[in-house]
Amino acid sequence: MKDVQNHIFVIFGASGDLTKRKLIPAIFNLYILDQLPKKFAIVGTARTELSDIEFRKKMVDAIKEYTNTKDEIKITEFSKYLFYTSTNTNNEKSFLKLKEKIRDIRKSSDIEENIVFYLSTPPSLYAVIPRLLARNGFNKENKGWKKIIIEKPFGYDFASAVKLNKELMTDWNEEQIYRIDHYLGKETIQNILVTRFSNGIFEPLWNRNYVHHIEITSAEDIGVENRGGYYDSSGALRDMIQNHLLQILGFIAMEAPGSMDAAAIRSEITKVFEALRPIKEEDVSKFTVRGQYVSSIIKKETVKGYREETGVKKNSKTETYAAIKFYIDNWRWGGIPFYIRTGKRLPTKVTEVVIHFKATPHYLFTKQKNCDACNQLIIRIQPDEGILLKFGMKIPGAGFEVQNVNMDFHYSDLSHQKVQPAYQRLIYDSMIGDKTLFAQATEVLAAWKFLTPILNAWKNDKSINVYGYPAGTWGPKQADELFDEKELTWRYPCKNLSNDGIYCEL
Ligand code: BG6
Repeated sequence: MKDVQNHIFVIFGASGDLTKRKLIPAIFNLYILDQLPKKFAIVGTARTELSDIEFRKKMVDAIKEYTNTKDEIKITEFSKYLFYTSTNTNNEKSFLKLKEKIRDIRKSSDIEENIVFYLSTPPSLYAVIPRLLARNGFNKENKGWKKIIIEKPFGYDFASAVKLNKELMTDWNEEQIYRIDHYLGKETIQNILVTRFSNGIFEPLWNRNYVHHIEITSAEDIGVENRGGYYDSSGALRDMIQNHLLQILGFIAMEAPGSMDAAAIRSEITKVFEALRPIKEEDVSKFTVRGQYVSSIIKKETVKGYREETGVKKNSKTETYAAIKFYIDNWRWGGIPFYIRTGKRLPTKVTEVVIHFKATPHYLFTKQKNCDACNQLIIRIQPDEGILLKFGMKIPGAGFEVQNVNMDFHYSDLSHQKVQPAYQRLIYDSMIGDKTLFAQATEVLAAWKFLTPILNAWKNDKSINVYGYPAGTWGPKQADELFDEKELTWRYPCKNLSNDGIYCEL
């Protein structure tokens, strides 16, 4: 394991939810694992006025709430790393205060001039803050490295992502910019590479000769919670597909990289995105389905519809469900349909990839019309993380009837190994300068390029419906019509990897 160099970790948006739920608990866990450098400090900053003591108290409460730690001594020791100063992006002078704060901490703790800036702020500040930091000399690396981590969404569509990138590149270089996508920190997504390339049995079949179609699903049972304002200007396509689900696709569809280093992996993913067959605006209704949850009763409780959520417009057309069929035009995947779907207020929380293999051509076994016994490899990202292979076996007794059975591996079987939370892994990687799990500009732009015609058509073409679906169901029925063959439908996963079925969580 590489040593982390001494540095200061600055968090913009330090009074927000992400800081207390994910960032501080993740850094605290690194502390417990002895993975932080000897000389280290965290500077939280936001508009709110807080003293160091007040900030420490809030973060101590967050650590108690969002980690399993009971060790008061460790928490108190860690809290000494925490500092706070307020900044206001409308007032450039407040950045001088930040500069002074950093200088004072550096001097008193004898820390080198290495700094990570984490932007956990509204996206409207993703160009503003780096610019103000640069004006104060924080982009200069003559005496120590400087990095900025930017949360998603990186842009709002293709044009705005190009603009944001240009603005950042005026003062910073690509090496300094870490575009974070927390899905890449998930162990199960990284394991896709190992499943595919370290086993002799999967990769030979991983192409258009043997694969029939591929499904990627990310379902959530929660609604938009207290993020109605943000979500209403975003929607499922921007919130989940542009980043998390396309990144999963990248790992599923890429060629084997020449090495496991960042440049090699990111470049293979970019090639996949660049080979996505463009969906023209006039064809969007054939390749996509969007929906919005409406009020319903789940487990005897009335659940609000999307338009009744706080911060959401009463006549909002924002999609809380999106499904897309598309193709990748390259030698490996040419002609094979990919189906991606995501939604809020679906019956369960599950993210998985299903590789559906082609049916047997042998006349004795071609009866399974709806492909009941077709082989499926299911890569479960969460929960009940693991891998499931479905294959046909003979039903005991007379005849040769075939039944689908399961062979499964669950991460929970590795009782001695704990899977690290995604943010913990990614923050650590940013500290040691490993960009393997961070999206680079070219791939983010390629992803937006593919999705922008869909966004445009959804915005401008009034004939494309937003279908309502009752909260707690699997989304609009129309999503089934995306499949080329009438008999096909989505897999309806349950919490437990081995089970599926439309009613399993009810
Ligand atoms: C975030 C989205 O990026 O990912 C949320 O903004 C979503 O809307 C979340 O709920 C899902 O992440 P996870 O790790 O819980 O699957």
